[in-house]
Amino acid sequence: MAKTARAHTNIALIKYWGKRDQDLILPYTDSLSLTLDEFYTTTTVQFDDQLTEDRIVIDHQDMPLANMGKVVTVLDRVRELAGITTPAHVISENHVPMAAGLASSASAMAALAGAASRAAGLDLSLTDLSRLARRGSGSASRSIFGGLVQWRRGNDDVTSYAEPILEQVDFGLEMLAIMINQDQKKVSSRGGMQLSVDTSPYFAMWPNVVEQDLTAMQQAIAEQDVATIGQIAEANAMRMHALTLSANPPFSYFEPATMTAIQAIQNLREQGLTCYYTMDAGPNVKVIYDRAHRDEIIAGLAPIFGQDQLVVAQPGPGITWLEED
Ligand code: DP6
Repeated sequence: MAKTARAHTNIALIKYWGKRDQDLILPYTDSLSLTLDEFYTTTTVQFDDQLTEDRIVIDHQDMPLANMGKVVTVLDRVRELAGITTPAHVISENHVPMAAGLASSASAMAALAGAASRAAGLDLSLTDLSRLARRGSGSASRSIFGGLVQWRRGNDDVTSYAEPILEQVDFGLEMLAIMINQDQKKVSSRGGMQLSVDTSPYFAMWPNVVEQDLTAMQQAIAEQDVATIGQIAEANAMRMHALTLSANPPFSYFEPATMTAIQAIQNLREQGLTCYYTMDAGPNVKVIYDRAHRDEIIAGLAPIFGQDQLVVAQPGPGITWLEED
């Protein structure tokens, strides 16, 4: 039977950057994210005897299977768990600009894990769904849950999964994406993080850096202190990007407009507004701010980027299953 699941994307406040096991997707460190309301993927899966191979349709386009490695990895794992070999028909719709640093693979792999497991007759716990989504894309492990979520690095496949640390985030923490460039990114997060692991002389420090940032972040979350959350997230993101600049060959996700955005946020901060920034494997900048300052922040950014390039996102929910058609 066809099953449909919806999962929302998440943005890391403490970044995941580096795997110690590339097949199982086991990270070097824990990471911590906020699931967002505005960006999500809805995916329907049906295992179908009539098919000779998997058929994957994303945003109304049939995809060549050769480019669908992450999807097939998740489907294969589901088939293994369910003891079947049936090809799957996957229909997925993104309400996320794909591969532009807005973590489309996080919502996509989480929704796929939810839909495919149920379509195969499995009734997995949220923890097991997080482990399954992780096999597709590390950050997807966190999109199973809503609000503030921590992916525990774990020691192996069984112990590496995400768990919610605060599902209802109602103390004013909000994010705004500045859409600088929606083109496909040049260096994938997968390739970029591996190059950083393999070649950056600073990578050896990264696990300690994350541990310290994570402890400080947990404290700031417990105190519901948006300014400190933003400050730590910003520093952690720039430390991650230092691993790209120090790789061999060096690379960067920054574009000129990225710097413009960062400077604009710094200016707004100097004017007394609570706003910080983070960035992932793409040029778009996400502003982390206190909801009370939203209008003033938008008023400051709109003349530079245009109102339609600014997308406000509230904290969002975990995975849900939709009614059958
Ligand atoms: C910069 O989860 O996309 O967004 O596990 O190789 O699929 P794979 O990588 P992915 O990497 C996300 C990297 C990041 C930081 C984060 O989300 O924690």
